[in-house]
Amino acid sequence: MTYETVLVERKGRTALVTLNRPKALNALNLQVMNEVVAATEELDRDPGIGCIVLTGSEKAFAAGADIKEMRPRSYMDMYLTDWFTAWDRLGALRTPTVAAVSGYALGGGCELAMLCDILLASDTAVFGQPEIKLGVIPGIGGSQRLTRAVGKAKAMELCLTGRTMDAAEAERAGLVSRVVPAAELLGEALAVAETVAGMSAPVAMMAKEAVNRAFETTLAEGVRFERRLFHAVFAVADQKEGMGAFVEKRPPVFGHR
Ligand code: CAA
Repeated sequence: MTYETVLVERKGRTALVTLNRPKALNALNLQVMNEVVAATEELDRDPGIGCIVLTGSEKAFAAGADIKEMRPRSYMDMYLTDWFTAWDRLGALRTPTVAAVSGYALGGGCELAMLCDILLASDTAVFGQPEIKLGVIPGIGGSQRLTRAVGKAKAMELCLTGRTMDAAEAERAGLVSRVVPAAELLGEALAVAETVAGMSAPVAMMAKEAVNRAFETTLAEGVRFERRLFHAVFAVADQKEGMGAFVEKRPPVFGHR
Protein backbone atom coordinates (compact mmCIF):
# COMPACT_ATOMS: atom_id res chain seq x y z
CA MET A 1 0.00 0.00 0.00
CA THR A 2 1.09 3.60 -0.48
CA TYR A 3 0.77 6.24 2.19
CA GLU A 4 0.88 10.04 2.13
CA THR A 5 1.96 10.84 5.67
CA VAL A 6 4.35 7.98 6.40
CA LEU A 7 7.33 6.61 4.51
CA VAL A 8 8.04 2.91 4.74
CA GLU A 9 11.46 1.44 3.94
CA ARG A 10 12.60 -2.13 4.36
CA LYS A 11 16.23 -2.89 5.19
CA GLY A 12 16.71 -6.64 5.38
CA ARG A 13 14.59 -7.91 8.28
CA THR A 14 14.01 -4.43 9.72
CA ALA A 15 11.51 -1.81 8.59
CA LEU A 16 11.72 1.94 9.04
CA VAL A 17 8.47 3.89 9.30
CA THR A 18 9.00 7.66 9.15
CA LEU A 19 6.28 10.16 10.01
CA ASN A 20 6.19 12.60 7.13
CA ARG A 21 4.02 15.62 7.83
CA PRO A 22 6.81 18.19 8.23
CA LYS A 23 4.71 21.37 7.86
CA ALA A 24 2.74 20.44 10.98
CA LEU A 25 5.72 19.00 12.90
CA ASN A 26 4.21 15.54 12.36
CA ALA A 27 1.03 16.44 14.25
CA LEU A 28 -1.01 13.27 14.48
CA ASN A 29 -4.27 13.79 12.61
CA LEU A 30 -6.65 10.98 11.70
CA GLN A 31 -4.84 10.33 8.42
CA VAL A 32 -1.49 9.92 10.18
CA MET A 33 -3.07 7.62 12.77
CA ASN A 34 -4.75 5.45 10.16
CA GLU A 35 -1.62 5.29 8.00
CA VAL A 36 0.79 4.51 10.87
CA VAL A 37 -1.54 1.77 12.08
CA ALA A 38 -2.09 0.34 8.58
CA ALA A 39 1.61 0.46 7.68
CA THR A 40 2.78 -1.16 10.91
CA GLU A 41 0.06 -3.82 10.82
CA GLU A 42 1.08 -4.64 7.23
CA LEU A 43 4.70 -5.03 8.40
CA ASP A 44 3.55 -7.05 11.42
CA ARG A 45 1.92 -9.58 9.07
CA ASP A 46 5.12 -9.89 6.99
CA PRO A 47 7.21 -12.88 8.09
CA GLY A 48 10.24 -11.19 6.48
CA ILE A 49 10.18 -8.39 9.07
CA GLY A 50 11.53 -8.94 12.58
CA CYS A 51 11.56 -5.41 14.02
CA ILE A 52 9.97 -2.05 13.16
CA VAL A 53 11.59 1.35 13.81
CA LEU A 54 9.27 4.35 14.08
CA THR A 55 10.78 7.79 13.72
CA GLY A 56 9.96 11.41 12.85
CA SER A 57 12.11 14.32 11.69
CA GLU A 58 15.11 15.90 13.35
CA LYS A 59 12.94 18.74 14.68
CA ALA A 60 9.93 16.71 15.71
CA PHE A 61 9.14 13.09 16.36
CA ALA A 62 5.56 14.38 16.65
CA ALA A 63 4.27 17.61 18.21
CA GLY A 64 1.11 15.93 19.44
CA ALA A 65 -2.34 15.13 18.23
CA ASP A 66 -3.61 17.62 15.66
CA ILE A 67 -5.01 20.52 17.66
CA LYS A 68 -6.66 22.17 14.64
CA GLU A 69 -8.48 18.96 13.74
CA MET A 70 -9.73 18.43 17.31
CA ARG A 71 -10.67 22.02 18.13
CA PRO A 72 -14.24 22.07 16.69
CA ARG A 73 -15.24 18.56 17.83
CA SER A 74 -18.09 17.85 20.19
CA TYR A 75 -18.30 15.20 22.88
CA MET A 76 -20.55 13.16 20.58
CA ASP A 77 -18.01 13.36 17.71
CA MET A 78 -15.25 12.10 19.98
CA TYR A 79 -17.36 9.40 21.61
CA LEU A 80 -19.06 8.02 18.51
CA THR A 81 -15.85 7.92 16.45
CA ASP A 82 -14.00 6.49 19.46
CA TRP A 83 -11.29 9.09 18.78
CA PHE A 84 -7.69 7.80 19.18
CA THR A 85 -8.74 4.17 19.81
CA ALA A 86 -7.01 2.95 16.65
CA TRP A 87 -3.67 3.84 18.29
CA ASP A 88 -4.16 0.91 20.67
CA ARG A 89 -3.49 -1.37 17.70
CA LEU A 90 0.09 -0.10 17.56
CA GLY A 91 0.65 -1.35 21.09
CA ALA A 92 -0.89 -4.69 20.12
CA LEU A 93 1.60 -5.48 17.31
CA ARG A 94 3.46 -8.74 17.88
CA THR A 95 6.62 -7.59 16.09
CA PRO A 96 8.96 -5.63 18.41
CA THR A 97 9.03 -1.87 17.78
CA VAL A 98 11.67 0.79 18.42
CA ALA A 99 10.84 4.51 18.70
CA ALA A 100 13.72 6.75 17.55
CA VAL A 101 12.88 10.18 18.98
CA SER A 102 14.53 13.44 17.95
CA GLY A 103 13.12 16.87 18.78
CA TYR A 104 9.58 17.33 20.07
CA ALA A 105 7.66 14.34 21.40
CA LEU A 106 4.78 16.18 22.98
CA GLY A 107 1.29 15.05 23.92
CA GLY A 108 0.29 12.37 21.42
CA GLY A 109 3.93 12.34 20.22
CA CYS A 110 5.16 11.27 23.66
CA GLU A 111 2.30 8.78 23.86
CA LEU A 112 3.18 7.36 20.44
CA ALA A 113 6.80 6.87 21.52
CA MET A 114 5.60 5.15 24.70
CA LEU A 115 3.45 2.76 22.64
CA CYS A 116 6.69 1.37 21.18
CA ASP A 117 8.70 -1.34 22.94
CA ILE A 118 12.15 0.28 23.01
CA LEU A 119 12.49 4.05 23.23
CA LEU A 120 15.77 5.61 22.02
CA ALA A 121 16.20 9.38 22.17
CA SER A 122 18.59 11.82 20.59
CA ASP A 123 20.13 14.51 22.80
CA THR A 124 17.71 17.02 21.23
CA ALA A 125 14.57 15.15 22.29
CA VAL A 126 11.93 16.96 24.35
CA PHE A 127 9.19 14.97 26.06
CA GLY A 128 6.00 16.17 27.68
CA GLN A 129 2.25 15.90 28.12
CA PRO A 130 1.31 19.58 27.72
CA GLU A 131 -2.40 18.90 27.03
CA ILE A 132 -3.42 20.76 30.19
CA LYS A 133 -2.26 24.01 28.58
CA LEU A 134 -4.91 23.39 25.87
CA GLY A 135 -7.63 22.68 28.41
CA VAL A 136 -7.57 18.91 27.85
CA ILE A 137 -5.82 15.84 29.23
CA PRO A 138 -3.78 13.09 27.51
CA GLY A 139 -5.92 10.75 25.39
CA ILE A 140 -3.59 8.08 23.97
CA GLY A 141 -2.55 6.57 27.29
CA GLY A 142 -0.12 9.25 28.48
CA SER A 143 -1.46 9.50 32.02
CA GLN A 144 -1.06 5.74 32.40
CA ARG A 145 2.13 4.90 30.49
CA LEU A 146 4.08 7.96 31.61
CA THR A 147 3.18 7.23 35.24
CA ARG A 148 4.30 3.63 34.91
CA ALA A 149 7.54 4.76 33.23
CA VAL A 150 8.61 7.65 35.46
CA GLY A 151 6.50 7.31 38.61
CA LYS A 152 3.68 9.39 40.06
CA ALA A 153 5.54 12.52 41.17
CA LYS A 154 7.13 13.36 37.83
CA ALA A 155 4.11 12.24 35.78
CA MET A 156 1.83 14.43 37.91
CA GLU A 157 4.14 17.41 37.51
CA LEU A 158 4.34 17.00 33.74
CA CYS A 159 0.58 16.43 33.31
CA LEU A 160 -0.47 19.20 35.72
CA THR A 161 1.97 21.94 34.67
CA GLY A 162 2.65 20.96 31.05
CA ARG A 163 6.38 21.39 31.60
CA THR A 164 8.59 19.36 29.26
CA MET A 165 11.70 17.31 30.03
CA ASP A 166 14.86 17.05 28.00
CA ALA A 167 16.50 13.82 26.91
CA ALA A 168 18.86 13.63 29.90
CA GLU A 169 15.99 13.97 32.37
CA ALA A 170 13.94 11.43 30.40
CA GLU A 171 16.81 8.94 30.60
CA ARG A 172 17.33 9.54 34.35
CA ALA A 173 13.60 9.06 34.90
CA GLY A 174 13.56 5.75 33.00
CA LEU A 175 11.37 6.90 30.10
CA VAL A 176 14.01 6.15 27.46
CA SER A 177 16.49 3.31 27.31
CA ARG A 178 19.37 5.38 25.92
CA VAL A 179 20.28 8.87 24.67
CA VAL A 180 22.59 9.19 21.66
CA PRO A 181 23.88 12.18 19.65
CA ALA A 182 21.26 13.34 17.12
CA ALA A 183 23.41 12.39 14.12
CA GLU A 184 23.69 8.81 15.37
CA LEU A 185 20.07 8.24 16.39
CA LEU A 186 18.76 6.52 13.29
CA GLY A 187 21.87 4.39 12.86
CA GLU A 188 21.64 3.26 16.49
CA ALA A 189 17.91 2.55 16.24
CA LEU A 190 18.40 0.49 13.07
CA ALA A 191 21.30 -1.39 14.69
CA VAL A 192 19.12 -2.23 17.70
CA ALA A 193 16.33 -3.29 15.35
CA GLU A 194 18.70 -5.47 13.33
CA THR A 195 19.87 -7.18 16.52
CA VAL A 196 16.29 -7.87 17.59
CA ALA A 197 15.32 -9.02 14.08
CA GLY A 198 18.21 -11.49 14.10
CA MET A 199 16.80 -13.31 17.14
CA SER A 200 14.24 -16.09 16.96
CA ALA A 201 11.04 -14.36 15.83
CA PRO A 202 8.65 -16.39 18.00
CA VAL A 203 10.92 -16.13 21.05
CA ALA A 204 11.24 -12.34 20.59
CA MET A 205 7.43 -12.17 20.46
CA MET A 206 7.22 -14.15 23.68
CA ALA A 207 9.80 -11.92 25.40
CA LYS A 208 7.78 -8.87 24.34
CA GLU A 209 4.56 -10.42 25.61
CA ALA A 210 6.16 -11.31 28.93
CA VAL A 211 7.57 -7.80 29.56
CA ASN A 212 4.28 -6.17 28.54
CA ARG A 213 2.41 -8.42 30.96
CA ALA A 214 4.30 -6.70 33.80
CA PHE A 215 2.21 -3.58 33.14
CA GLU A 216 -1.10 -5.39 33.28
CA THR A 217 -1.04 -7.84 36.11
CA THR A 218 0.16 -8.68 39.62
CA LEU A 219 3.71 -9.87 40.22
CA ALA A 220 2.60 -13.44 41.02
CA GLU A 221 0.44 -13.68 37.88
CA GLY A 222 3.17 -12.10 35.77
CA VAL A 223 5.75 -14.58 37.01
CA ARG A 224 3.32 -17.45 36.34
CA PHE A 225 2.75 -16.13 32.80
CA GLU A 226 6.50 -15.85 32.23
CA ARG A 227 7.06 -19.40 33.54
CA ARG A 228 4.47 -20.81 31.11
CA LEU A 229 6.11 -19.00 28.19
CA PHE A 230 9.53 -20.11 29.40
CA HIS A 231 8.34 -23.73 29.31
CA ALA A 232 6.80 -23.09 25.87
CA VAL A 233 10.09 -21.96 24.29
CA PHE A 234 11.30 -25.55 24.70
CA ALA A 235 8.83 -26.39 21.92
CA VAL A 236 10.57 -23.92 19.58
CA ALA A 237 13.43 -25.31 17.47
CA ASP A 238 15.38 -22.10 18.18
CA GLN A 239 15.88 -23.20 21.79
CA LYS A 240 17.89 -26.23 20.58
CA GLU A 241 19.71 -24.04 18.04
CA GLY A 242 20.59 -21.28 20.56
CA MET A 243 21.75 -23.60 23.31
CA GLY A 244 23.43 -25.94 20.82
CA ALA A 245 25.34 -23.05 19.24
CA PHE A 246 26.56 -21.94 22.67
CA VAL A 247 27.85 -25.41 23.52
CA GLU A 248 29.41 -25.84 20.06
CA LYS A 249 31.03 -22.37 20.31
CA ARG A 250 29.47 -21.06 17.07
CA PRO A 251 27.00 -18.26 16.30
CA PRO A 252 23.34 -19.40 16.34
CA VAL A 253 21.23 -19.30 13.19
CA PHE A 254 17.68 -18.72 14.29
CA GLY A 255 14.63 -19.51 12.24
CA HIS A 256 12.07 -16.90 11.52
CA ARG A 257 8.39 -16.99 10.78
N1 CAA B 1 -1.43 20.22 16.08
C1 CAA B 1 -1.61 20.91 14.94
N2 CAA B 1 -0.65 21.67 14.38
C2 CAA B 1 0.54 21.75 15.03
C3 CAA B 1 0.78 21.06 16.22
C4 CAA B 1 -0.26 20.25 16.74
N3 CAA B 1 -0.10 19.52 17.86
N4 CAA B 1 2.05 21.36 16.63
C5 CAA B 1 2.57 22.18 15.70
N5 CAA B 1 1.66 22.43 14.73
C6 CAA B 1 1.80 23.27 13.56
C7 CAA B 1 1.72 24.75 13.94
O1 CAA B 1 0.39 25.18 14.06
C8 CAA B 1 2.46 25.39 12.77
O2 CAA B 1 1.58 25.44 11.67
P1 CAA B 1 1.39 26.83 10.84
O3 CAA B 1 2.74 27.06 10.22
O4 CAA B 1 0.32 26.49 9.86
O5 CAA B 1 1.03 27.88 11.84
C9 CAA B 1 3.54 24.36 12.45
O6 CAA B 1 3.09 23.13 13.01
C10 CAA B 1 4.88 24.71 13.06
O7 CAA B 1 4.68 24.89 14.46
P2 CAA B 1 5.21 26.18 15.25
O8 CAA B 1 5.25 27.38 14.37
O9 CAA B 1 4.41 26.29 16.52
O10 CAA B 1 6.72 25.72 15.55
P3 CAA B 1 7.66 26.20 16.75
O11 CAA B 1 9.01 25.67 16.42
O12 CAA B 1 7.50 27.65 16.99
O13 CAA B 1 7.08 25.45 18.07
C11 CAA B 1 6.21 23.57 19.32
C12 CAA B 1 7.16 24.06 18.17
C13 CAA B 1 6.74 24.07 20.67
C14 CAA B 1 6.24 22.04 19.27
C15 CAA B 1 4.79 24.11 19.08
O14 CAA B 1 4.40 23.83 17.74
C16 CAA B 1 3.75 23.50 19.99
O15 CAA B 1 3.67 23.88 21.15
N6 CAA B 1 2.92 22.58 19.45
C17 CAA B 1 1.83 22.00 20.22
C18 CAA B 1 2.32 21.01 21.26
C19 CAA B 1 1.14 20.42 22.00
O16 CAA B 1 0.44 21.11 22.72
N7 CAA B 1 0.91 19.11 21.84
C20 CAA B 1 -0.19 18.43 22.46
C21 CAA B 1 -1.35 18.34 21.51
S1 CAA B 1 -2.84 17.70 22.25
C22 CAA B 1 -2.61 16.04 22.31
O17 CAA B 1 -1.61 15.52 21.87
C23 CAA B 1 -3.71 15.25 22.94
C24 CAA B 1 -3.40 13.83 23.21
O18 CAA B 1 -3.25 13.36 24.31
C25 CAA B 1 -3.29 12.90 22.14
